[in-house]
Amino acid sequence: MQILKKVEEVREFKKTLKNKLSFVPTMGALHNGHISLIETAKQHSQDVIVSIFVNPTQFGKGEDFDKYPKTIENDLEKCEKAGVKAVFIPQTSEIYPENSLITFNISKISEILCGKKRPGHFNGVIQVVTILFNIIQPDFAIFGEKDYQQLMIIKQLVKELHFPIKIISSKLIREKDGLAMSSRNRYLSLEERKKATVMYETFKRIKRRAEDAFFNRSALPVEFIEEDAKNLILEKYPDIKIDYIEIRNSDNLQKSKFILKKSRIFGAIFVGTTRLIDNMALN
Ligand code: PAF
Repeated sequence: MQILKKVEEVREFKKTLKNKLSFVPTMGALHNGHISLIETAKQHSQDVIVSIFVNPTQFGKGEDFDKYPKTIENDLEKCEKAGVKAVFIPQTSEIYPENSLITFNISKISEILCGKKRPGHFNGVIQVVTILFNIIQPDFAIFGEKDYQQLMIIKQLVKELHFPIKIISSKLIREKDGLAMSSRNRYLSLEERKKATVMYETFKRIKRRAEDAFFNRSALPVEFIEEDAKNLILEKYPDIKIDYIEIRNSDNLQKSKFILKKSRIFGAIFVGTTRLIDNMALN
C-alpha cells in the first residue's frame, strides 16, 4: 500500500494504474463503517484510494476540529488489511494554498437539517471534496448513507460541476445495539454510550408505526410524528439535547404533510457534548 502526501505523488500513482479508480474520502479515525465504504469501493474497482484529511473548513466555531480523533497508525493498518492500494494523507497546506481566494457556496439543500444547524458546514464539504476530486480524479467515489444530506449534496455537486465521477452510496453501518457507527462515538463516556442508542430505538418505533399506517392505509401527519419522536427521546433521557428530528423525502429532502413511502426520518442529538446523527427510511 502506498502512502501519498503530495498532489504530485498522487499524479504519479495514477500513472501506474491499469484499472478504474475508486475513491473513499475520510477524515480518519476509521471504524467498520469506513471499512464497509472500502468494501463497496472494491465492488466497483479493485484499485481503491482512501484520503485521510480532517478538513478545517467544514467545522464551525466551537465545534470539535481541534479534538477530532487522530488514529493514523491504526487507520493505515485498517486500510492495508482492507486491500487499499493507496492512502492520501495531505497536510492542510497541500490542500489549501496560503491566501486562497476561492470560496464555495451551496444554497437551499444546505439550509435544512445539518446545514441549518451547522452554518457553512456543507460549503466546507463541497470545497474539500471538489479539491480532492480534482487531485485524485477517480472514476467512482463512495459516500455513506449515514451522512445522507452530504451524499445528496455531493450528487448535486457532481451534476452541476460535470465531474466525470460516479457517486456510489453505501449503507449506514450500525453497532450491534443499533448505534450508527461514527468516529465521534469514541467521545462518549460509558454512560453516554448507553443512552446514545435512543435515537435508533425511537426511529425503529416510528418506522413500525409508519409501516402499520401504510398497511392500514391511514395517514400519519409528519409534524405530529416528529413531535412524538422528540418526546420519546426526552421521556427516556431528559438530559439529551435534540438538535433536530425531521421527516423528509428520501429523494429530494422535501417535507410532506403526511408520511409517504419515500419518507425518511433524520435526527441529530447531543448526548453530553457529543453530537450524533442518524437517519432511517420509513418504508
Ligand atoms: O464524511 C466525511 O468524513 C467528510 O465530510 C468528507 C466527505 C471526508 C469531507 O471532509
